[in-house]
Parts: sequence; structure tokens; C-alpha cells
Amino acid sequence: MRLLPVLEGLHSAESFNVEFLEAFFRRTREIEARPVEFRESLRGRVVAHVFEEPSTRTRLSFESAVLRLGGSVLTVTDPKSTSGAKGEALADTAHIVGGYADLLVWRHPRDGASRVVAQHTSVPVINAGDGRLGHPTQTLLDLCALERRWPAFAGRTIGLMGDLKYGRTARSLAWGLALLGVRVVLLPAPGLDWESSFERRILDHFGMRLRWTRHPLFRVWTGSPEARVLEPRGMIQGLLFQDEVPTLERLDALYLTRLQRERGATVIGEGYPGLQPEQLRDPLLESCLLMHPLPRREELPFELDRDDRALYFEQARLGPVARMAVLLAMLREDAWPLPSLTPLPAGQPEAALGACANANCVTRAEGLTTPWRVVGAARRQFLCALCDSLLPVDYVGCRSTLRVHPIHSPAALRISPENLHPFREREEALEAGYAWGG
Ligand code: CP
Repeated sequence: MRLLPVLEGLHSAESFNVEFLEAFFRRTREIEARPVEFRESLRGRVVAHVFEEPSTRTRLSFESAVLRLGGSVLTVTDPKSTSGAKGEALADTAHIVGGYADLLVWRHPRDGASRVVAQHTSVPVINAGDGRLGHPTQTLLDLCALERRWPAFAGRTIGLMGDLKYGRTARSLAWGLALLGVRVVLLPAPGLDWESSFERRILDHFGMRLRWTRHPLFRVWTGSPEARVLEPRGMIQGLLFQDEVPTLERLDALYLTRLQRERGATVIGEGYPGLQPEQLRDPLLESCLLMHPLPRREELPFELDRDDRALYFEQARLGPVARMAVLLAMLREDAWPLPSLTPLPAGQPEAALGACANANCVTRAEGLTTPWRVVGAARRQFLCALCDSLLPVDYVGCRSTLRVHPIHSPAALRISPENLHPFREREEALEAGYAWGG
């Protein structure tokens, strides 16, 4: 029995686990090898695609996937054409559209939107990109493209470059790579780094270490000669540890991302990090796969397209088959299941915690009370359950003993998740009837 409510569907790469990914890779190969076997598998099923932001690859590859499986599609491509434009709440739209389809694929500009959709419909929901937060099916096809080139993920090194602050694809991919034991080098554009609490969560969740590395190209790309590295424990590359900040010898892949202008991102200083054809001669990139979720801008010149290292069109090509595997697992679990995703907690609304600090959180646009969830065992963090932003919790009460403790105290860590009651201030807990537990 689950003690706390969870979200059904696919909302975040945080839900992936190794068993799921390995079976997913196998299923994509089966579908590609024997497409005829699958072509009637969604006969009679309807999938609704609600895209409240522009898309080429995600929407069309999802639609292609449904059609290749024999299903039917409903599609919204312009949010102005729906009653959302008249002020309808996302919850109501989700409730209604969920009555017209067997599965919802939803893209939305707000962080956490797919999780709200899932809470207001009984059919499965797939996040097709929500604000800057996540794009889990993009991560699936990114990993699928890598898996076909790499015999094993562990021990590989990949750079994530560009707009890490607003870019959801890099954020999602970081979870998937960490799960598979890949070392991640962070190359954010100036002023466009992701928040430290997100990185801390990945490090804590996977028991990774934070290190630094350097390379002359880093200064050209980001303005800084050094870069942070999220490193799996136990991963030893001798040369990486000789100096205090060692030079990186090779990258196995470089994942470029565009500037997310539509989310307010702007270039600060010299320019935005991108690749130049002559840089491909550097030994760092000698056998480096060049990745990009696309669409691209100046960061990825067309001259690179014919290079053997270019993987981005292969990533896009794998979109339909990756999405076919996920659709089959969700709608035809009887015949083509995948191991269960690790569910995300739905969270518990708590008005006393105030508004979520993330201005792009779906709670802010939809007027919702912020629901919290807790992550971490040795160092607990309270997050907005919809947008994963850190909440300002310094004290926790135990609903069973009615005692309140500092968040990182041993007594607080002993409180079981279903008994946790978070507070910003000690006085708030005392006013709520809790006694100071020390
Ligand atoms: N990679 C990706 O999400 O592309 P679209 O925005 O075209 O769907």
C-alpha cells in the first residue's frame, strides 16, 4: 500500500530507473525490427495532443507514433484556439479533454503543468515539455541515440552546454545520465546556469561528487576556463585527478542547447556558447558525439551536419519509435509492458508555506496552493511538488507526536514521511499546536 498519493503518468526523468531504461532500449529495437507486429496495437485508442507551445519534433513524432500503432489522434496546436484563451483553468481543460481520449500528451509553458493535468484526469498523461522543468520523452530518445553508439554508459563523459537555466532538455537529460553512471560536465552560458539546489539534488540522489575540470575550449565557449563536473562515485580517470583542477582529455558527447528566448533568456557578455567547425579538430572532441535536441540556432552551424560525429538528426529520427515504446507501455501494458516508472509523489498542499518562489510555477498561473514533497534521506529538502523548486522549510513537525524540530536534526530525520508537517518558522509551528521538541 502506498502511504502518500503519487502521480500517474510520465512527468519527469526523475521517474526513470535502470530497469525501465534497459527494457525501453530493447523495446525500441523490437519495434524497429518488426514494425508490422505493432501496427494494430492501438486500434480503437485515441491520444490527445495538447500543445500550448510550438513544436515540430515532439508533436509530430508523437502523432506519427500513434498512427503507426493504429490509433487515432486529436490535436491542439494553438492555445488561442481553446477555451484556455477564455480563462478556463488548466484543471478543467484536463478534466474535459481526458474524457475525449485514452491518453493525454501535454506541452505547456508553465513548470509542473503536466502534473496538474494528471491530477484532474483519470487517463495517463505524458509531459511533452513543461516550461523549463522537464522533457522526459526527449531524454528517452537522447539516451536511445547514445545507447546505439555506446556499448556501455558507465565511464563516459558528456558536456551539457548552453542555456541550462531555462532549457528543459538538458535538465531532464542530466537525470538520465546520472542514473546510468555518466560523468556530466556543465558548460552553461554566462548567467544561464541552473539553480544550485537542482544540482545538489542530483548529487545527493545519486551519491555523486562535485569536481572541477578545465580546458582551453571552455573559455571560448562559456568565458570560464573551468567547468563543474558531476561525477559518479568510484569513477576514476587517472589524469583527471593529477592536478588540483585537471585538464579534461576527452568528451564522449557534447549536448548543445539553444538560447530559450521565449522564456526570457538573454545573452550576457561575449556571446552564446556554440561550436565552430575548426573546433572539431581539437583532441577533446576527437571522438565526441555532437548532440542537440533541436531546433538549433547559431550554436550549431550547418557545416557540422555531414560530420560523422553529428548525432542530432539520429536523435530526432528516433522520436517516433521512442514514443511508440512509451505509448505501448501505457496503453497496451497487457502485451508490451515496461518495468514500472518510479512514481513522483503528488505532494500535499500547504497554504502556510506561501506561494512557490518560482515565478514560472504552474501554481502561480493557476492560483493553486503549493503542494510539497520531500526528497533526500540524510539531508531532506522540501520541494514544490509541481515545479520541484526548493521551499523555504527550516522546521518540521511530527503529526503523531506533535513536536517540532529543526529540519536537519536527528529527531526530524526520524519522522516518517507521512507524519511530516513542514514550517518556515518555529513560531508558526507553535501557533499550530506543536511543542518544541529541540
Ligand atoms: N526537441 C524538441 O522538443 O523539439 P520541438 O520543440 O520541435 O518539439
